[in-house]
This record gives sequence, structure tokens and C-alpha cells, in this order.
Amino acid sequence: MTELDTSRNIVVGVAGGIAAYKACHLVRNFKEAGDDVRVVPTENALNFVGAATFEALSGHPVSTTVFDAVDEVQHVNVGQHADAVVIAPATADLIARLATGRADDLLTATVLVATCPVIIAPAMHTEMWLNPATQDNVATLRRRGMTVIEPAHGRLTGADSGPGRLPEPDQIAEIVRTELAGYRVEHRWKGKKVVISAGGTREELDPVRYLGNRSSGRQGFALAEWACQMGADVTIVAGNTAPLPVPSGAKVRSIISTRELERAMREEARDADVVIMAAAVSDFRPAEVAESKMKKGLADDALSTLHLVENPDVLKGLVAARARAELPAECVIVGFAAETGDADKSALEYAQEKFARKGCDVLMANEVGRDKTFGQKSNEGWILGSGVEPQRVEHGSKQVVAAQILAAVNQMLRE
Ligand code: CTP
Repeated sequence: MTELDTSRNIVVGVAGGIAAYKACHLVRNFKEAGDDVRVVPTENALNFVGAATFEALSGHPVSTTVFDAVDEVQHVNVGQHADAVVIAPATADLIARLATGRADDLLTATVLVATCPVIIAPAMHTEMWLNPATQDNVATLRRRGMTVIEPAHGRLTGADSGPGRLPEPDQIAEIVRTELAGYRVEHRWKGKKVVISAGGTREELDPVRYLGNRSSGRQGFALAEWACQMGADVTIVAGNTAPLPVPSGAKVRSIISTRELERAMREEARDADVVIMAAAVSDFRPAEVAESKMKKGLADDALSTLHLVENPDVLKGLVAARARAELPAECVIVGFAAETGDADKSALEYAQEKFARKGCDVLMANEVGRDKTFGQKSNEGWILGSGVEPQRVEHGSKQVVAAQILAAVNQMLRE
């Protein structure tokens, strides 16, 4: 269990789809975080994964009907004590039953009893997902306050590919934890284009060496995941990152150097509603790139001097491009500031100066150090905006921080 997790009662509902096997990993994820998990499958889910598997993983008996253990009134008991009900996968049929308020098995009856957050992760063929009947049912559930996770895009059961895949269990668990931390996905960015840079850029020294940084890309990917869940069309311009799952439905465009990043961002931002520079950008690059690998035995002056030139400031360039009408005038531009405080000024004071210098609309400032932010799974800091007091971003997972940043951006979009 990490310091971010506290033990909760989680109900994992499982419907009868091929992705039911992924529910096993979801149960494990919650168990490993110290949560108490009850699995409530539908009758059809047990055609894919046996009750014994769910019982062994959760440590609780499993049933599908309200007529098992009648004396315990299971649906009332399980539903009332749940901190969250997560249904993964949810089939088109289960979504339809939930939308009509049916209670014809233990899972649907439990959902009707539950007053806690209900998070539904659909998985089905693209045609079934896009069918107006399913979309209407999804809209109904969202209107009633349930969270319906956007399915991932990719290979489905057969040779077909498109939206409809179940996101990875870790991604689903992270969305559940973010909601339990008090941040609900608001599905209000349908039709908006969001461009996010993530990870670190690398500058070549010779064919095998580069200058780089320790960025993992986690904050950028967490922002992309949250923006996808808000319904936006998301493009990630990704430098070097840790191995991270692609957020549900996001497009990824890979770059290596700062100059490639600049080109990609300018192109992608042309029709963007929101641009976020979360990448850790190399400010300098070697003045010359060696044609072949630099060998040992270089002269002393060559060893002691590395000639560098300054890279373009991509964020400032985007702000300037918007002023020249190369980006939509209403596009919201967000920057990040990695700061360390010193004897003269605090990290926040340096961030405020940077905010003024960069000219962006929102700046997420965090304090960095060897053990802070880079490569870590959590983050904290301040959100700076024009004419408003700095807003403290409390310590939380990068998804929790992403939710707070996008809430601030959403305010600007509405204004
Ligand atoms: N950034 C950028 N282009 C650069 C350097 C940084 O677009 N050449 C962006 C980052 O993606 C981030 C913001 O500018 O959104 C601030 O990055 P940071 O590294 O904190 O600041 P620098 O501009 O590099 O300033 P300094 O190194 O002087 O603190």
C-alpha cells in the first residue's frame, strides 16, 4: 500500500464480455493497495472467468443472484457498504439494463442500492459502442451521476479495431482512485482538441550518445488520460518517456529533439482548443553533432569543453504564434515550471516570474529536486493564472493533479 492509498470497500462488477479476464488484474490492483474487494459477476461473466478465480483473488464468496445467501440480503449489504462500485467490463446489455433501472441480478440490484461513486468501464465492438442506443444509455447514466469511462481504441476480439477496448486495469484503477480522492470526470470536452507534450527531449552528441533529462512523461500522460475521459480529442507529442499505457483514445506523435518538438507542437496546435507543455525540454543542444562515435583519447581541450547552443523556447513560441493568429485566438496555453527554491527566493516566487516571462494562460508550478516530481508517481505545487491568487495543488497522484489543472483550464474555456 502506498501513502496515497487508504483501504476502501470496492465492489468490482463483471459483465459477460471477453475482457472479463482483465477484471482479475483489476481485483489484484485494489487488493495490493489494501482495499477490501467484493466481486459481483453477471451469470454470463462466469462463462469467461470461473467463480473460483474471483473468490481466490478477492477472498470472498461470489454469487450472481439475490437468491444466494438470502439471509444476508447481499445486494443491500454489499451496495450499502461499498465506497465505490466499478464495473469492468460493462457490456452493451448491462449498460442498457442499468439505464432502465433493472434489478434482475445481484449486480444490477447492488448498483441500485449503492449511493457511492459508480464507475463503468465499457468494452464491446465499435459498432455496438457507437450505436445510438448504447450512446443514449451512456448519456443517461452520466446524467444520473455515474462515471462512464471512455473505452480505449485498438484491436478488438476479432481482426477489427476501433473504440471499444477495455482500458488497462491500472488505468481504470487510477480513475477510480482519482474519483475517490474527490475529482470526478466531467464529460464536457466533446469536440475539443487538446495537444499535450510529454516526456523529455534528447539532444544528440554523437550517433550513440545524447543529452537528456529524467522526465518520465507521467504527468503529461495523466493529463492526456483525464482530457480523453473528459471527451476531448487528444494528441500527445511524446519525447522519451517511461513505458506508459497510451491513454484511452489518444493519438501519440513521437519526437526526439527540442526542434522536432517545436515543429510538431506548432502543427498540432493550429486547430487546438488547449495546448499543454508538460514536456521537460532541453534548453541547450550540442553546437555540433559528431558524425561517428567519439572515441577515448580525445585531446584535453576537447574533453573539457562541450560547446552548446540554446534551443528555441517552444512554449514562448506558441504564445507568440497565437498572437500572430497561427493558433486559434481562444486557444488556452498551459505551461509547467520545474523550480527549486534558494536563499534568495522560494520556488513559488521563481514560478511567478516564469509565468510572467512565458506569457501563457496557466502555469503549473512544482518544486523539483532529486527526490521530487521527476519519475515519481505523485506531484504537488501551485496553479498560476492571470489576475487570480496562486491555487495550491495538494500532494496527490499525477492523475489527481491533472484533474485539478484541467478544472482550472476548463474555467478559462468558459470565460
Ligand atoms: N519549455 C519550452 N521550451 C524550452 C524550455 C522549456 O517550451 N526550451 C517549456 C516547458 O515545457 C515548460 C515551461 O517551458 O512548460 C517551463 O520549463 P522550465 O524547464 O521550468 O523552464 P525554462 O524555460 O527552461 O527556464 P529555466 O531553465 O531558466 O528555469
